Amino acid sequence: MAPRPLIAGNWKMNMDLAGSEALAKDLLGAVGAAAKFEMTVCPPAPYLAAVLGVLEGSMISVGGQDCHQNASGAHTGDVSAAMLADLGCAYVIVGHSERRADHAESDAVVLAKAEAARANDLIPIVCVGETEAERDAGRTLDVVGTQIRGSVPEGLTGETLVVAYEPVWAIGTGRTPTTDDVAAVHAHIRSVLAEKTGDAANVRLLYGGSVKPANATELMAVNNVNGALVGGASLKAGDFLAIARST
Ligand code: 13P
Repeated sequence: MAPRPLIAGNWKMNMDLAGSEALAKDLLGAVGAAAKFEMTVCPPAPYLAAVLGVLEGSMISVGGQDCHQNASGAHTGDVSAAMLADLGCAYVIVGHSERRADHAESDAVVLAKAEAARANDLIPIVCVGETEAERDAGRTLDVVGTQIRGSVPEGLTGETLVVAYEPVWAIGTGRTPTTDDVAAVHAHIRSVLAEKTGDAANVRLLYGGSVKPANATELMAVNNVNGALVGGASLKAGDFLAIARST
């Protein structure tokens, strides 16, 4: 049986305090019991506590957008996995391509972040994906396989690991891979994950990159796609819920 889909909203560096609370309330009011899918939202760090306050005790969990790999110390501006866990977060995104690009995060750093997440009982959402140049060079499976081998900890399970495939060229562009391409990459990810865990079949593999209500049904139906990591469309409650309901 395929694992229960996870719909994750990555709010990135958007929203303000009032807007974050309002969006969380709108989601809460409309989501219903929703046993078919699991939902999580990842607000900017300054708004985590407020969003957690709104969503406490609900079926919508909350995640961080990043964590530092170290437990504590002199890392100005960074947030530790322990801090996210202390607040009540369940997930943390690590290795998003915007972090890999803006902060020069290597696979080794992403691996350390995912391990820090696990040490604090957070579920890491490990992101991988090729650039447009890598895709044009026919290197997608190679690049994604190398990222998985380098950034996913050993021995995690379907309960303790989520992987997101986000082609860099599809993020925020309105462009998406064909469903055949998504199927090929997700199948490859699952086979490489089997080198890391005996539970690869149960690890949720999310697709991310320009997911919208209009394309969600088709993308969520692809083999080995177990949910979505949604950026822009997660900032509108109606769109995010429509995507969730398409799973
Ligand atoms: P968009 O949905 O805005 O393309 O962003 C995808 C993404 O990067 C989610 O992490």
